[in-house]
Amino acid sequence: METTVTVAPIGVKVDDLRKNFGAQEVLREVSLAVEPGEIYVLMGPSGSGKSVLLRHVIGLEKADGGKVLIGGEDAFDPTTHQRVRTAMVFQAGALLNSLSVYDNLALYPREHRLYPEDQIREKVERVMRALSIEGSEKKIPAELSGGMKKRVAVARAIIMEPQLLLYDEPTSELDPILAATTSELIATIARETGATSLVVTHDRELALAIGDHVGLLMEGRLVFQGTARELRESADPAVREFLNPAINPDQPRFRQKENPS
Ligand SMILES: Nc1ncnc2c1ncn2[C@@H]1O[C@H](COP(=O)(O)OP(=O)(O)OP(=O)(O)O)[C@@H](O)[C@H]1O
Ligand SMILES: [Mg+2]
Repeated sequence: METTVTVAPIGVKVDDLRKNFGAQEVLREVSLAVEPGEIYVLMGPSGSGKSVLLRHVIGLEKADGGKVLIGGEDAFDPTTHQRVRTAMVFQAGALLNSLSVYDNLALYPREHRLYPEDQIREKVERVMRALSIEGSEKKIPAELSGGMKKRVAVARAIIMEPQLLLYDEPTSELDPILAATTSELIATIARETGATSLVVTHDRELALAIGDHVGLLMEGRLVFQGTARELRESADPAVREFLNPAINPDQPRFRQKENPS
C-alpha cells in the first residue's frame, strides 16, 4: 500500500500516572513503555480509563501525579508536540463537518505549510486511494457511513506523517470484515512508515492480531503487560476474565479440541 514517507519513530513512557476527576480515581499509578516503532495495544473494559490515558499522551490532559514522556519529553508541554509529530485517530472521528473530506485531509499540511498545494493534492489523493475512500472528497463527514468516517479519520492522521500514531477504538462500530481490514491497515501503516503506534481498544481480536506488546487496563490499573503470546498464555485471573471466552482453556470448545472424543 502506498501510504506516506518513512519517519523516525519515537517511544512513549508512562510513569506512575495518576488522574482523578473529582472524587473518582480514573488512573491509578499506571506505568507502561511503548518502544519506538512498535505497535502497543492497550485493552480494557469500557470506562477503565483508556481514552483518558491517550489524552495524556497527546497532551490534552494534565496528570495529577506521575508523568508521560514522548521521546523523553513531557507530553503536556505544547512545545514537545512541535518537535515530535503526533497524530490521533479520535474515538468519534473528530472530523470537521463544515469542511469537505478533501479539505479535512488537507487541513494539517496546509495550516503547517508542509507542502505546496499541488503536492498536498497528490498526497491526499494517494492516501484516499490507499484507504479506498476515493470518490468521497466532496462529501462532508456527516454524509459518510460510520466505517468511512473511521477511514477518513485514519487518513487524516497518516497525512500528518506522524512519528507517533494514537488510535482510540479504531474498529468500534465497524462490521467484522471492515474491522479486520482496519487492523491490517494499522499494521501496514506501522510497517511502511515506521511510526510508533499506540492503539486503545476493547477488541481482543485486534490486540492479539497486531500487538507487539499488549497492556490490560482495569479500573484505572494496568493489570497485565507483555507480548500477545504472553497474554494468551497468562494464568492471571483478571486477564482470563477479560479474555474469556476467547482464550479460556476451561471453555468447552478448548476442552473438545484437546480431548477429541
Ligand atoms: N472530562 C471528564 N470529566 C469527568 N470524568 C471523566 C472525564 N473524562 C473521562 N471521565 C471518566 O473517566 C472514566 C474513564 O473514561 P474513559 O473515557 O477513559 O474510558 P474508556 O476506557 O476509554 O471507555 P470506552 O471503552 O467506553 O471508551 C469514566 O468513568 C469517565 O466517566
Ligand atoms: Mg474510550
